[in-house]
Amino acid sequence: MATSHQSDGQRAEMNVGTEMFPDWINSQKSNQNWLRKEGEKFLFPGGGTMFPHGVGAYVDLMQDLIPGMKDGTIRTAIDTGCGVASWGGDLLDRGILTVSLAPRDNHEAQVQFALERGIPAILGIISMHRLPFPANAFDMAHCSRCLIPWTEFGGIYLQEVHRILRPGGFWVLSGPPVNYENRWRGWNTTVAEQKADFDKLKKLLASMCFKLYSKKDDIAVWQKSPDSSCYDKLTPSSYPPKCDDSTDPDAAWYVPIRPCLAIPSQNLNRLSLKSTPKWPERLDVASVRVSIVPAGNANAFKHDNGKWKVRVKHYKTLLPALGTDKIRNVMDMNTLFGGFAAALIKSPLWVMNVVSSYGPHSLGAVYDRGLIGSYHDWCEAFSTYPRTYDLLHLDGLFTAESHRCEMKYMLLEMDRILRPNGYAIIRESNYFVDAVATIAKGMRWGCEKHDTEYNVEKEKLLVCQKKLWYSKLKRATSTMNHS
Ligand SMILES: C[S@@+](CC[C@H](N)C(=O)[O-])C[C@H]1O[C@@H](n2cnc3c(N)ncnc32)[C@H](O)[C@@H]1O
Repeated sequence: MATSHQSDGQRAEMNVGTEMFPDWINSQKSNQNWLRKEGEKFLFPGGGTMFPHGVGAYVDLMQDLIPGMKDGTIRTAIDTGCGVASWGGDLLDRGILTVSLAPRDNHEAQVQFALERGIPAILGIISMHRLPFPANAFDMAHCSRCLIPWTEFGGIYLQEVHRILRPGGFWVLSGPPVNYENRWRGWNTTVAEQKADFDKLKKLLASMCFKLYSKKDDIAVWQKSPDSSCYDKLTPSSYPPKCDDSTDPDAAWYVPIRPCLAIPSQNLNRLSLKSTPKWPERLDVASVRVSIVPAGNANAFKHDNGKWKVRVKHYKTLLPALGTDKIRNVMDMNTLFGGFAAALIKSPLWVMNVVSSYGPHSLGAVYDRGLIGSYHDWCEAFSTYPRTYDLLHLDGLFTAESHRCEMKYMLLEMDRILRPNGYAIIRESNYFVDAVATIAKGMRWGCEKHDTEYNVEKEKLLVCQKKLWYSKLKRATSTMNHS
């Protein structure tokens, strides 16, 4: 992941206001008042930030508390309640790939803002349903000032954090009630209340086999149990109870969060943070989870890796912008092991690897190699804002899905999430390439049909660019608003 060290302000300017945005969008943005830029910092309404000395100083302190952030042990992270994703943006520069997650709430379009900064982000909320990620995925989870009531409702929010964290992974919390001793006055509460909150949190985390790892100033770090020794001691009367085996821990599409602990299977001991190779070696190592896929083994993984290197090399000849700073936010709409993303690892971009929500759960293997992604069912809308991706790539998605959902709806969803002037690379059977080309023309995309690198008849490539166009109606409204 090639990135340079940039401040919050520089990052925003990097994407906002380039020629990719028409004037009327920029004028709309100038009217927004939910976020203020002050020097090198972004401030939410009310002026608060968890990073009073800049996010860099905050992460420097965190790195002192968690040495694994410096040596490639920690590679994947999730920021629950990300705001405008400054934490994830800073970590990119340190080689840690973060999924920034937040809903659209009173903090407005924070995830849209994050994506416009070129930082990986997805709309989501820790609430009643599991997040769209497999179990034992992230090396680290973080929440600063997200004010989620962690200890309420049987602790279900923390149970979800526990599920998605890799054994031995870190849970980092900053803001209330951490550091209540020094901060309680600003929080409109009493020191006794804050102490009680923090004690309750510590007790709940300990009962979930998290260990308090380190704590300094506003930051507290817990570690998820790296092995089964703590879970083995839980009894039938423990609180929270162990989950029974009735729900696959990896299933996460409309699966309600249950008030019980999902215990990592003993077979998955090799998924612990300690047993996972360090970044960047882990990118090319087949994890135990490749065998979740039929005929998945180390050889199949190696073959997949090699195949995508050849394919991406060919893509670059057809789309010279690929690998340059013109393409930043990329989605591989139906990946197996993240081979497309791995082949682009040296490019200045990031890839959201999407795995079908009802196929084999290969997304765990994607995380094991240090890449990020989400489950999704392409018969539904993806959890992102319009015009947020610069490139969409798919490989046989229509062949696989057209019996379930209509191709035109999938294409319309692609059109929604693709930025004007953004690209799509569609790898399909000859039949589907022609069918897509017809609908794409109706959406005013400019497309060219190409041979694949193997130059075979049965499979073709369609390389498209979404054009920038305005409906007459929108232009008139925009002119009226600004006259
Ligand atoms: C005060 S902001 C903090 C933003 C950022 N972490 C920071 O420190 O600047 C609170 C964040 O938590 C998010 N949030 C609140 N409840 C959440 C939930 N249940 N799941 C995910 N995010 C949540 C909000 O949308 C917002 O992004």
